Parts: sequence; structure tokens; C-alpha cells
Amino acid sequence: MEEWTYGVNFLTRTGQLSTDWRQEFILLSDTLGISMLVETLNNHKSHGETESTVLGPFHIANVPHFDNGANICLDGKGEPLWVHGTVRNAKGKAIAGAKLDVWQANEDGFYDVQQKGVQPENNLRGIFTSDKMGRYFFRSAYPRFYPIPYDGTVGDMLKALDRNPNRPAHLHFIVSAPGYETVITHIFTPDCPWLKEDAVFGVKQSLIADFKHVNNPKQAAERSLPNPFRSVEWNFILSKEK
Ligand code: BEZ
Ligand code: FE
Repeated sequence: MEEWTYGVNFLTRTGQLSTDWRQEFILLSDTLGISMLVETLNNHKSHGETESTVLGPFHIANVPHFDNGANICLDGKGEPLWVHGTVRNAKGKAIAGAKLDVWQANEDGFYDVQQKGVQPENNLRGIFTSDKMGRYFFRSAYPRFYPIPYDGTVGDMLKALDRNPNRPAHLHFIVSAPGYETVITHIFTPDCPWLKEDAVFGVKQSLIADFKHVNNPKQAAERSLPNPFRSVEWNFILSKEK
């Protein structure tokens, strides 16, 4: 009975913590691995298409659209980052006009929505469009790992299991184009200490990217970035809509 009462109270508190801004039940599903299980069963890729991973709670709709090359790091903080690549189909054909919705945490591991009044609104997020050759490119800042919200029932569960609350550093993307399946995904930095212990089990080997250190004043100037900077090339491959 004691265990049953604890379970009922735990689930009741989980519901009571959920608001428009905080969905403790989804976080519970994420940290128990259920979100990734459902996501993986539903998004099987067999022809080298970009794999998907969890959406998470920090995506917001209606963010600014930018031209390629724009800088989404509005406060200029953090290690400068150049992100570029292409969007193609599984046969290698460039997809023009694909939308790339990106969002990420800053160098301290916080999203703009967690630091209202500290970070500018819409810091480190925005929507880009691939050009005629399927290319996209933008400027940003190297992200840091961060803890998921652990001041509620999910935190109690993690503590009871002696688990850490951290997510390894990543950039989120939702990539969509007419006639193709939308992919919700991340790219992970390769050197993050939490890569093997993601609190929500969202890491897939195919999503770990190479973020190169670049020390080249000419290349920095061409990209309107300070030197040195980091650079990551990431090519998205979309599946045809079924
Ligand atoms: C995120 O990556 O933003 C995230 C994903 C799942 C739970 C919490 C945060
Ligand atoms: Fe995230």
C-alpha cells in the first residue's frame, strides 16, 4: 500500500506541475526512455536519411526567418560557430527551399526562454531556407551541455536512481520541404562529457558531428566571424513523403 500511495502521489504531483510552459509528463516519458522508443519505432530510416531524435520543450513557433549567413547569436556571447551544409534526398538530389528551423542553448547551457531578460528574445533560434543548390549556412555560438528541469518529480526520480540530469551539447533542427517527411533532429558536439549519459537517451551515433577548430583570419573575415572559430558541416538527407 505504501508503494502504491507513493506511485499515485508521484503521478499526481507530475500532473500538478504541468502548465502551458512545463510538461512534466513529457519530461517523465523522455527520462524513462519512452519518448525515444516511440520516436525510433516510428521513424525508421533505411537509406541513409538523417535520423530523428526528441523534440524537447524548448522549441517555439513563429520565430524569425533569416537569410543564409545571418548570425543567430544576438548577444555575441560564446565561441563563434559557422554551421553549413546541404539538404538532399536519398538519391543525392539537392532540395531547394527546404526550411531549417534551428534552436540551441548558449555557452552557459541555457535557452533564451529560460533566461528572459538575460538573453535577447529569440536568441540562438531562427528559420533558414536552403538555396537552389540545397545549401544553407549561418553563424551561431558553440553550445554547452545543460540539465533538463530537475526541480520536480522527474528530478526526484533521477536522484532516486542516482542518474544525472544532463543533456550533451547539441543544436536542434526541424527540417521540412514539400513532398518530404519532416525530420526533427539534433547534431551533437563530439567532445561533450555527457555524450554517453544523455538524461533523455537522445544520442544516436549518426548525429554526432565534427565541429572543427578553425584558425584562419581570411576564412573568418569571409564569414564575418572573429578568428578563431568553430565550423561544422552537416548534410541533411530527407525521406520522400509516403
Ligand atoms: C532538449 O533537448 O531541449 C530537451 C529534450 C528533452 C527534454 C528536455 C530538454
Ligand atoms: Fe536541447
